[in-house]
Amino acid sequence: MNQPRIGDVFGELLRDELAVRTGVGPRPLAGGRLPRPIVEIIERDDGLINGAPAAHYLAGPEDWPDHDHRALARVRGRILDVGVGGGRIALELQGRGHDVTGLDISPGALEVARRWGVRRLVRGTVDEHAGAGQRYDTFLLLGNNLGLIEGRERAPGFLAALARMAAPGAQVIAHGSNPYGTTDPVHVNYHERNRRRGRLGGQLRLRLRYRDAATEWFDYLVCSPEELTGLVGGTPWRLADVDDADRPYYLATLRLRADD
Ligand SMILES: C[S@@+](CC[C@H](N)C(=O)[O-])C[C@H]1O[C@@H](n2cnc3c(N)ncnc32)[C@H](O)[C@@H]1O
Repeated sequence: MNQPRIGDVFGELLRDELAVRTGVGPRPLAGGRLPRPIVEIIERDDGLINGAPAAHYLAGPEDWPDHDHRALARVRGRILDVGVGGGRIALELQGRGHDVTGLDISPGALEVARRWGVRRLVRGTVDEHAGAGQRYDTFLLLGNNLGLIEGRERAPGFLAALARMAAPGAQVIAHGSNPYGTTDPVHVNYHERNRRRGRLGGQLRLRLRYRDAATEWFDYLVCSPEELTGLVGGTPWRLADVDDADRPYYLATLRLRADD
C-alpha cells in the first residue's frame, strides 16, 4: 500500500478553498463537474480521525466566533500574526489600519494569504523570525494556535523566541481550548495515556491529511489555563488574563514580567 505523500497540507487545502470561493483555478470536482467540499482531516496517534471544513480559514468577521472579535479588540501597536494561515485575521486588522505581519511555515498558506490581500508576510518559525531584528507589541496566536507551544519541552523556547521580538509592554493573545471538560472515553483515555508517558494530557500527536498529502507527525497542545500557568512559569512572560466566556475555548493574554 502506498503511504501518503508528505506535503504542504495547509497550503494545498487553503489553495483549493480559495479556488472554491473565487471560482478561479482548479479545485476538486466530483466526476470532473460538481464541487466537492474542502475538508481538513486531522489524524491523532491513537487512530482518532476528525474532519473539519476548511471554509473557516478564509471566513470574514461576520462568520467568526465571538472570541476572535474580543481578541482583536485587545490588539495594539505592531502585530505579528503567528501561523497566519489564509490571512483572515491579518486581513481584517490591515483593513482597520493596523501594522500587521503574518508569519507561517507553509509556503502555500502564505501564497493564499498574499492573494487574499495580506501585504506583509514572512515565511518561517518564530525562532527564525526572531533573528530578523523586528519588534512587535502584540503577538496573535489565533485559530487555536496556542497549540504551537506543543508541550513542556517546546514551550520555553517558543515563548523565549517571542520575547526576543517583544517591544517593551508587549502582549501575547492566544486562543486555546481546555480539553478536560469531556467525559468521552476516547478522549479521557487518550489524556490518561499521555500522562502515563510523561506528557501533558492534551499534548496531541497529530498529522494532517488532505487528498493524497499528509504532514509529518507533530505535537499540538490543548491545555487548561492552570497547565498554561505552569508552562509560562520560568519564561519572560506571565499569564495576565484568561477570558473563558466561550468555554471550552479561552483567550490567554501573556505580558512580559519585565514590565511588572
Ligand atoms: C490552525 S491554522 C490557524 C490559521 C489562522 N491563525 C486562523 O486563525 O485562521 C495553523 C497555521 O499555523 C501554521 N503553522 C504551523 N506550525 C507553525 C510554526 N511552527 N510556525 C509558524 N506557523 C506554523 C500552519 O501552517 C497554519 O497555517
